[in-house]
Amino acid sequence: MSTIFAIALGCAAGGLALLGSVIVLVVLCLRHRKRTSDSSESNSSGQAFSEMRGARRLTLEELRSATNNFSSSNLIGHGMFGDVFNGLLQNGTVIAVKTRHSPPSQEFIQEVNYLSSIGHRNLVNFLGYCQENGMQMLVYEYVPNGSVSTHLHGNSHGPGVRLEFKQRLSIAHGTAKGLSHLHSLTPPAVHMNFKTANVLVDEDFIPKVADAGIRGLLDRIGVACPSSRISNDPFLGPRGKESMVFSIQSDIYSFGVFLVELISGRKAVVDQSIIEWIAG
Ligand SMILES: *[C@@H]1O[C@H](CO)[C@@H](O)[C@H](O)[C@H]1NC(C)=O
Ligand SMILES: *[C@@H]1O[C@H](CO)[C@@H](O)[C@H](O)[C@H]1NC(C)=O
Ligand SMILES: *[C@@H]1O[C@H](CO)[C@@H](O)[C@H](O)[C@H]1NC(C)=O
Ligand SMILES: *[C@@H]1O[C@H](CO)[C@@H](O)[C@H](O)[C@H]1NC(C)=O
Repeated sequence: MSTIFAIALGCAAGGLALLGSVIVLVVLCLRHRKRTSDSSESNSSGQAFSEMRGARRLTLEELRSATNNFSSSNLIGHGMFGDVFNGLLQNGTVIAVKTRHSPPSQEFIQEVNYLSSIGHRNLVNFLGYCQENGMQMLVYEYVPNGSVSTHLHGNSHGPGVRLEFKQRLSIAHGTAKGLSHLHSLTPPAVHMNFKTANVLVDEDFIPKVADAGIRGLLDRIGVACPSSRISNDPFLGPRGKESMVFSIQSDIYSFGVFLVELISGRKAVVDQSIIEWIAG
């Protein structure tokens, strides 16, 4: 096969993938518009209600007993907020607890109240918080079936599982609903760290966007995200990287990269524009 032919083939395949993503995106946007106009899913009076109620506080005792005193065998990851442990509450709910060392702050309480007001079926459910003993913690439902990233690319425990096209489509659809729910809030919530690793799937392959509002929370309680983390993030557009200004548009760029990863099964690379990446 000649090089030129190979390049042409590559470009054609890339173009097809891009076209596919664009079509999916447009269809999703149109559907979303229709949905919001008959307002079946987001009930603004319901949101106001949960905003008033505020976030539930869990005690350090409860969380210690849920996580075997934060034992290393319960450690499931390390995210932007800090270490993540899984655990089991007395009432049978399986949880993921994000923890960081920090003195208590009132801003944190405001932020968790906000987090508890942004619930949606396609966002990881925020259950409550704990602020004790020099620790700040966020408690979420545990989403059992890993991230879209592990499904596509595998992880240290093994290769990814092959996703059927139907599953990919349903993941794309649900994820778009989760993200557009954030964007439809007043004021809009910008995710700022959207990527395949932050979209989890449950047993039924219903996608749940994780880490919604976390970068905003850290910004507002005065914790800057390391700039190395930003420049190494292939999900951020060139403008996001340079100015570190996050917006609905930068989320949509990240969503585009997410779609291309999801459809092509290839991993986004740093230092390569999405166009070169698709064509290459
Ligand atoms: C919205 O939520 C409120 C409070 O939960 C409920 O009373 C109301 O019926 C809901 N409205 C719609 C259209 O679902
Ligand atoms: C839990 O761990 C902390 C330190 O990590 C220790 O001080 C405490 O005694 C432990 N509690 C239990 C019940 O094991
Ligand atoms: C268990 O407790 C958590 C945290 O208080 C709560 O969010 C959840 O709804 C409870 N689950 C059940 C089944 O009661
Ligand atoms: C979810 O994960 C469990 C455990 O890894 C696995 O047994 C099950 O098949 C998975 N379900 C789906 C739908 O992938």
